[in-house]
Amino acid sequence: MKTGSIKHARQGGPGRRALANWAASGLLLCAAIPAQVQAEDAQAALSPSGEYSVYETEAAQTPPMGWNPWNAFRTDVDEQKIRGSAEALVNNGLAQLGYRYVNIDDGWALQRRDDGSLKIHDTMFPSAVVDGHPNGSFVPFTDFIHSLGLKAGLYTDIGHNTCAQRWDATSPNLPVGSIAERQVGSMDHAEQDMKTIFGTWGFDYVKIDACGVADYAPDVEPVQSGRFNVFPPYIVRGDIPNSDPDAVEALYADLGTAIKEWGGDDAVLSICAWGEALSPRWGNKRGNLWRTSPDIEFHWESMLRNIDSAVDRTLYAGPGHWNDPDMLAIGHGDFDENHLTEARAHMSMWAIMASPLLIGYDLRDAPQPLLDILGNREVIAIDQDAAGNQGVPYRDGEAMVVVRTLAGDGARAVVFFNRGDEPVSATVDWTQLGFAPGSEASVRDVWTHENLAAAKGAISVDLGAHEARLFRLKGTPADADAVWLDEMPGRINVAVDGIGNHSLPEGWVPARVAVAPDGSAFVSQGTSFAKGIGLFANSRVEIRTDGEFAKFDASPLVLNGSGSVRFLVYADRKLVGETTVKAGKSGKISADISSAQVFELVAIASSVGGERPPMIAWADAKLQR
Ligand code: GAL
Repeated sequence: MKTGSIKHARQGGPGRRALANWAASGLLLCAAIPAQVQAEDAQAALSPSGEYSVYETEAAQTPPMGWNPWNAFRTDVDEQKIRGSAEALVNNGLAQLGYRYVNIDDGWALQRRDDGSLKIHDTMFPSAVVDGHPNGSFVPFTDFIHSLGLKAGLYTDIGHNTCAQRWDATSPNLPVGSIAERQVGSMDHAEQDMKTIFGTWGFDYVKIDACGVADYAPDVEPVQSGRFNVFPPYIVRGDIPNSDPDAVEALYADLGTAIKEWGGDDAVLSICAWGEALSPRWGNKRGNLWRTSPDIEFHWESMLRNIDSAVDRTLYAGPGHWNDPDMLAIGHGDFDENHLTEARAHMSMWAIMASPLLIGYDLRDAPQPLLDILGNREVIAIDQDAAGNQGVPYRDGEAMVVVRTLAGDGARAVVFFNRGDEPVSATVDWTQLGFAPGSEASVRDVWTHENLAAAKGAISVDLGAHEARLFRLKGTPADADAVWLDEMPGRINVAVDGIGNHSLPEGWVPARVAVAPDGSAFVSQGTSFAKGIGLFANSRVEIRTDGEFAKFDASPLVLNGSGSVRFLVYADRKLVGETTVKAGKSGKISADISSAQVFELVAIASSVGGERPPMIAWADAKLQR
């Protein structure tokens, strides 16, 4: 168990001085604390840190793009297939469009040797046979990938064993030998494995799976039959009370530290815990991308499930850290060349969600219509937009509209998406887009590369079954001198979400744009607020302002519960605004944040009680230039 290391690894925690300031200001004494959390920890977490507490590297400033063999070949994979797809990426032009990570998935590891080193499966990777390297070497492989101008990725697991060992027992590429020799996962070998993967073999990216801490419980057949050692699971799928999220987070934290040491600032860490163990809540503090769901299967419902796992998590994504609803299924099943509508919808949604784009199709023999979908320049430009804002979703039955604020004044992307089998109409309005009432916006269909008629007030689109349209708009911002928080989610980080390790009802997300965690609208005493961020009290949100803004205004709301909530605004750790709002009521707050690099929004509930702290909103929250 490594839970102890988590406190040291947690970035952005308040220093002694910050706590002392907090105490001196008297705030320490009156702040209430959720019963379930240790008083000291809660105070520490809510103290302004003035830092941006995400996994900070230079890597993945836009969502990673590339290719991975898993969806194409599963365990039936070898070096030739991977090299062939890498060459295809270059030859068909996709590499030039940004698809540059060529990743090896499960199956490459043959054995863990007595000295703890890893031996490569050289029947799978013939080029790994290198004189003087009894374990084999991936240098010939990574040299080849790099010679194509691409980057190379590898796979491991946080536990002792990988997923294929558990779920693909007939794979030709399983580890061999004794139980200990077959423990090819990186548990207890974080430093050594990352040194080998990044330092010796020259990889640029690692995907780290989690079956080793999930699927080797005492009661499973492969353990009972003695083929694997037992690992009392840290992850029981779908069951937070019986999981140990802190232990899982700590394992990724240790790996992240080793990756930074051996891979440097450009190394990418992909967390693959399938949305379990609360990983979508802490993934941005521990890696560059984190899975939000189980594996995508090649059918429509599975894709919808994966969309729903990520689409409301707008506030967790930003440059360097991305929600990952899994690799692309384009080319397979409901998304194959006979289902181009569905393939385009899949691609549209991944682009608007700022999702990683990892192709999972055998590119050595790909039909042109699929390559055209994967290679649509304008769609890719939306996915890769430099501002790094994930889109904000709005739902109307089977119709879904997602609005993404792009870099540049008044630039937006919007997806109109029909989840269902019957035709629907979907509408986005000027409030959702943040455009000035009465102003016109230009409209471009990025799939067809056509400019459409300019629009005013709202845009409605008729959609066939499973259809998505993706537009790029240029409009007039509603306020030339201000930006709503809704329009800059890529610069917002939920440092403390107020609910600790507690799970939430299905469909709730601890922090969201324009709605409360449970999806309800911001309404207080009969007044609706269209914009803002919704979360729980006992929370702290960091916003990167880089000295660009002068003033902050919001209407703080307490949406449920009893008692009151104190709303505090800090600019570079200095308290610059404060108000108290009673349950069910709204207030006003205004603060001078001139030249602040990071400002923080803290909300503290006055009383303990109920299952969770009250839901609150920083409604109509706006930054003035
Ligand atoms: C799963 C993972 C897949 C793939 C597979 C390999 O856990 O989600 O993307 O890596 O393991 O066995």
